[in-house]
Amino acid sequence: MGELDKAIEAMRKGIPVLIHDDYGREDEVDYVIHASYVTVDKIYEMRTLAGGLICYAMPLPAGEMLGLRYIADILAGIEPLGRLAERTLGYGDKPAFSLWVNHLKARTGIRDRDRALTIRELDRVVNLIYSGRVEEARKLFYESFMAPGHVPILLGRRLGERRGHTELSLHLAMLAGMTPSTVIVEMLDRGEALSVEEARRVSREKGYPLVEGSEIIAEVERRGEDM
Ligand code: 5RP
Ligand code: CA
Ligand code: ZN
Repeated sequence: MGELDKAIEAMRKGIPVLIHDDYGREDEVDYVIHASYVTVDKIYEMRTLAGGLICYAMPLPAGEMLGLRYIADILAGIEPLGRLAERTLGYGDKPAFSLWVNHLKARTGIRDRDRALTIRELDRVVNLIYSGRVEEARKLFYESFMAPGHVPILLGRRLGERRGHTELSLHLAMLAGMTPSTVIVEMLDRGEALSVEEARRVSREKGYPLVEGSEIIAEVERRGEDM
């Protein structure tokens, strides 16, 4: 079985997958799991094994149905804050960040238990959207969450537009026939991102498939299924 097939199968089973975006982009490896499988232990592993920023991702159209927008677009209308949102980092992509939220039943929002709860409940909201129950999703979202919180929501674009870990993870979920609803966190090393070679070692040790962004993109293009 090829690495992409292993990654698709792992996604379905709730086993973490490691995704390397591209040597010409961030050149980072993210630890990725479908949001429906997030537990307290998984959040613990994300911050101890991976160490980056734990983010929740959903597609932009789902976010728009909830009234969410990119934080950069919100800031753009407010001076002088808008000046900050005109800029991007060196590799040039527009950020995928929307709001940061906490579930209202969280204690402080940051604890493993709190972030697992916030993410699982976000997954429940997005599942309602993809089941066609948009009004219920909106009601649940506005009754159960607060902002600012400790879980950043990322809104994924089409692969034709952006090819970050946000988009790659959401498309991997869709290739697995699952709701596009993922949790992603960068794998870091002291002072740097974890190299692909080191990530390969983690992949072997933990049994978490390591897949290249280009493999996901090629399969989405082959199936003609960009979101
Ligand atoms: C949030 C980030 C990370 O790079 C994460 O991988 C998602 O972003 P992208 O879609 O740009 O890869 O910026 O911590
Ligand atoms: Ca990024
Ligand atoms: Zn990234």
